[in-house]
Amino acid sequence: MALALFPLLISFLFLLPVSSLAQTAGNITVGASLSAVENSSWISPSGDFAFGFHQLEHNKDLFLLAIWYNKIPEKTIVWYANGDKPAPRGSKLHLTSDQGLVLNSPHGEQLWNTSQTINGGVVDSGVMDDSGNFLLIGSNSIVWESFKNPTDTMLPSQKLDKEVALSSRRSETNFAKGRFRMVLKSDGNLVLTTINFPSDYLNEPYFESKTSAGDSDLSSPGSQVVFNESGYLFVLRENNERFRLTPTITGSTKDFYYRVTLDFDGMLVLYSYPKIR
Ligand SMILES: *[C@@H]1O[C@H](CO)[C@@H](O)[C@H](O)[C@H]1NC(C)=O
Ligand SMILES: *[C@@H]1O[C@H](CO)[C@@H](O)[C@H](O)[C@H]1NC(C)=O
Ligand SMILES: *[C@@H]1O[C@H](CO)[C@@H](O)[C@H](O)[C@H]1NC(C)=O
Ligand SMILES: *[C@@H]1O[C@H](CO)[C@@H](O)[C@H](O)[C@H]1NC(C)=O
Repeated sequence: MALALFPLLISFLFLLPVSSLAQTAGNITVGASLSAVENSSWISPSGDFAFGFHQLEHNKDLFLLAIWYNKIPEKTIVWYANGDKPAPRGSKLHLTSDQGLVLNSPHGEQLWNTSQTINGGVVDSGVMDDSGNFLLIGSNSIVWESFKNPTDTMLPSQKLDKEVALSSRRSETNFAKGRFRMVLKSDGNLVLTTINFPSDYLNEPYFESKTSAGDSDLSSPGSQVVFNESGYLFVLRENNERFRLTPTITGSTKDFYYRVTLDFDGMLVLYSYPKIR
């Protein structure tokens, strides 16, 4: 019955797909860089995802460092770094061994970096993989990944731990942080809620999964939000039971690209788009 109240829509977008060419094989070594100019990106081996600079619509001299679905003709951004600080034309992204990814403006101002999350580790390479995850690898382990630092979107195979929030953007084309959050709280309850600017204080939720330990003597608390390989979004409980958030879908992830996005109006939406064969 919770499903009836849940503000989640399935939206099928059938636009004419065109193909595009893969330029690199997804593996990027330390020392590599990208400039904030048109068409500057690193592409996953299959060509499905690109990581690079997206030119903002309202100002052609500002760029967003982002990941997008590279074969969907309508630019579909699934992750972004500097939503609150767009990069002026000519800014540079460097892959460094000590700070991982570093984005500098042409005047040398640092706009964004991954150094805090890397936490003293050493980076050997970066990988734009075919699931849409950008990873930094050091000493054969993952030191940073975009899947663990989400913005407004989840992709199939992505999992969110407790207290890791999705944040809506300000508007369709403004990538600054907006008013809505989706977060699995420490008690295991998944909430959709607004925040009070400029603080990050969460208001009363407008949706909750009621999967905290306290909601029933019998229930096991939520431990992760999972968007699985088949395109199903659910709260995984500690006892491995699932609280499903999305309805049954008919298309396979072999034939469709899926994403779940917390839209700028606060709606959590499952989108699909047919792949080109
Ligand atoms: C990326 O390339 C480097 C150098 O060619 C190699 O040592 C490393 O193993 C590769 N990493 C991955 C994840 O393929
Ligand atoms: C960027 O790519 C698009 C599509 O391939 C092309 O039409 C455009 O001319 C390119 N722009 C630049 C500056 O290379
Ligand atoms: C990296 O970014 C953080 C903010 O996320 C900032 O506090 C820090 O100064 C930056 N690091 C460097 C070396 O500029
Ligand atoms: C994803 O979850 C759905 C619903 O629980 C399940 O039917 C499906 O088998 C799962 N897919 C994978 C790849 O685990």
